[in-house]
Amino acid sequence: MTAPDVEAAPQPLVDVDVDQERYARFRISFEAVTDFGRRLLAARLAAAGVLPAPGAAAGRDEILARLAVAAGYEPLGDALLDLLERADLLRRQGDRLAVTHRVVEAAGLAEDDVTDAAATALSREHPDIAGYVPLLVACQTGLVGVVRGDRPANEVLFPGGSDELVSGIYRDNVQLDFYNRLCAALVQQQVRQFLRRYPRSFAQVLEVGAGTGGTTGPVLDALAERAERLRYFYTDVGPAFLRLGRRRFGADRPYVDFARYNVEGAPEDQGFEPGSMQVVLASNVLHATLRISAALRHCHALLKPGGVLVVNEMTSRLDYNTLTFGLAEGWWRHEDDEPRVPASPLLDVAGWRAAFGRAGFVDVRAHAVPGLAADEQVQTVFVATATGACGASR
Ligand SMILES: C[S@@+](CC[C@H](N)C(=O)[O-])C[C@H]1O[C@@H](n2cnc3c(N)ncnc32)[C@H](O)[C@@H]1O
Repeated sequence: MTAPDVEAAPQPLVDVDVDQERYARFRISFEAVTDFGRRLLAARLAAAGVLPAPGAAAGRDEILARLAVAAGYEPLGDALLDLLERADLLRRQGDRLAVTHRVVEAAGLAEDDVTDAAATALSREHPDIAGYVPLLVACQTGLVGVVRGDRPANEVLFPGGSDELVSGIYRDNVQLDFYNRLCAALVQQQVRQFLRRYPRSFAQVLEVGAGTGGTTGPVLDALAERAERLRYFYTDVGPAFLRLGRRRFGADRPYVDFARYNVEGAPEDQGFEPGSMQVVLASNVLHATLRISAALRHCHALLKPGGVLVVNEMTSRLDYNTLTFGLAEGWWRHEDDEPRVPASPLLDVAGWRAAFGRAGFVDVRAHAVPGLAADEQVQTVFVATATGACGASR
């Protein structure tokens, strides 16, 4: 069923709130887990003979040579040294770097039993970030082997093929939960608006990189009220995620289709009709593509004129992510000239706005946590409206 075009219309702000007290506590806890990760990194690198001994100093290249990063991990090596310097674990002495007293104090964390005890104490003190701790510990205890190419990153991030470590951070998480609800409300708003205007039409929504369905769950819940007039495409580049999605969402939702789609390629080459969607949703996925401009053009091509792209993305670099997802080669694979936030694959809010504009989107709205200053926001949900003017999707 093909639905008529959606006219671009002013969008009222959606009303999605966050428990401010709980979110403030979460931010303090998140800083505690991040600092634990930085000290763990320093202790492990010192024990591996990568960092200069206390009292000595070494050039940056010398330290990187001792780290012996495999091809593809050079940006991670640089990012780790920057991170240690910012955290006052390494300090400049002229053009050389020396460890600080913080590294000496953290030295015990080179031992697994000390690390485990510290991790347990941290989780007890900050139960709201307990889900972040096991992934961080696994990544830091496995880091040297991974960056040297001795061990595949997936073995560390997904031990035995399980997503248990990664999915730990998604459980009962006030921040992720807020952004997922925000995505859900924004998609719901678009679908409602469209169906109200075209009462005899179906709304078509395509989710790019749906993964394990962290965002899909709240979105499908919000859309359940219009299920009889909805077609939802749950897509991902990875077939394993489609099987997972089908198990999780397929049973009682005949209006959800599961299909492979790689946003780096044109929709028409992958069985999707250009100009057929009212909403395209991409949550935490577009930063992982080789070229953001191409990915945005392909999203634009999927949309009807006036349809919207909802993008949920981290817009600030977080050391926690460098210390964990930074181990995945994919984190560093981008090949474009977009102004990425240094030492990360991310774009900031201005970078996204510019990229949307170049891909033919207009009326770009940015949504984030209410009541928080712009420089404190770590994540943003954008709603960008497609024009009819983008032209070719390639
Ligand atoms: C960090 S996960 C996010 C999953 C989910 N959207 C969420 O927010 O919970 C990124 C997902 O994007 C998918 N992905 C990565 N590159 C992609 C591409 N080029 N096209 C489509 N999906 C892609 C991955 O397979 C993975 O499932």
